[in-house]
Amino acid sequence: MKKRILIVGACGQIGTELTGALRAKFGDHKVIASDIREGEDALMKGGPFEILDATDYFALEDLVMRHEITDVYLMAAMLSATAEKFPMKAWNLNMNSLFNVLNLAKDHKIEKVFWPSSIAVFGSTTPKSDTPQRTIMEPSTVYGISKQTGERWCEYYHQKFGVDVRSVRYPGLISYKTLPGGGTTDYAVDIFHKALKHGKYISFLNSESTLPMMFMDDAIRATIDIMESPSEKVKIRSSYNLGAISFSPAEISEEIKTHLPEFEMEYQPDFRQAIADSWPQSIDDSDARQDWGWEHQFDLKATTKIMLDNLKPSE
Ligand code: SER
Repeated sequence: MKKRILIVGACGQIGTELTGALRAKFGDHKVIASDIREGEDALMKGGPFEILDATDYFALEDLVMRHEITDVYLMAAMLSATAEKFPMKAWNLNMNSLFNVLNLAKDHKIEKVFWPSSIAVFGSTTPKSDTPQRTIMEPSTVYGISKQTGERWCEYYHQKFGVDVRSVRYPGLISYKTLPGGGTTDYAVDIFHKALKHGKYISFLNSESTLPMMFMDDAIRATIDIMESPSEKVKIRSSYNLGAISFSPAEISEEIKTHLPEFEMEYQPDFRQAIADSWPQSIDDSDARQDWGWEHQFDLKATTKIMLDNLKPSE
């Protein structure tokens, strides 16, 4: 089978690392990176790149046909904090891009779709700890509503039209290569930059806001693993719970202090506190572990060390 992959939203926090990993696995010329804007040098020079507005069906269809794309990873989205400021823009981007990709698959123009969901599908009425795969879902954010709706449409397209769509509910993702933008869990990346630069961080979440998190390498492995699993192993076609670690701002601050004893933390919660308060603290991901062998590798200790080692200015 001649696999050709398109990544939509390749310049974002996840897209950048996913593009690198897919190029390494399948070969640079098999992977087409695309985004609405150009990205960092390594990404632009490492293989084919196209400018693409994911909400433009005809532009997407043209790109897919020209490159004979088989697999699409749809990583373009507006995240939770920004989406609260631009609700209609977020809804249009998050939903129309998904419909465009699902419709291409329905019409047999592509074979397989990856679309990420999020812990944001849950809400304040959801059980907070070890949140089950199937539970009460009353999301209270624009972003969460778009992700929950997207999950329903993915399952619908799978059942009704046989679309091979696969999805995981990412927790907050921690990485050093590309900054996240506009999320509520972004503090857990920013804290490392500020700790090294200023020895101090002002957190926009309170000290006890425990949230599910994951180191990027785990997230990328989960993404490629679910896409490469035999179809019959992917039993859930809405989206899989995916867990790794959970910590609060106070706990990550303590871990950073084991490396940087002078590090100081201050708390000034803003509108993002209410978003964090509506999300789970930890996730039961036993379905992903059973169905397609998901296993995380990085704990908070390892993540902290890798982040500091990689962001440290070189001597
Ligand atoms: N990390 C995302 C956010 O904070 C959640 O999916 O918006």
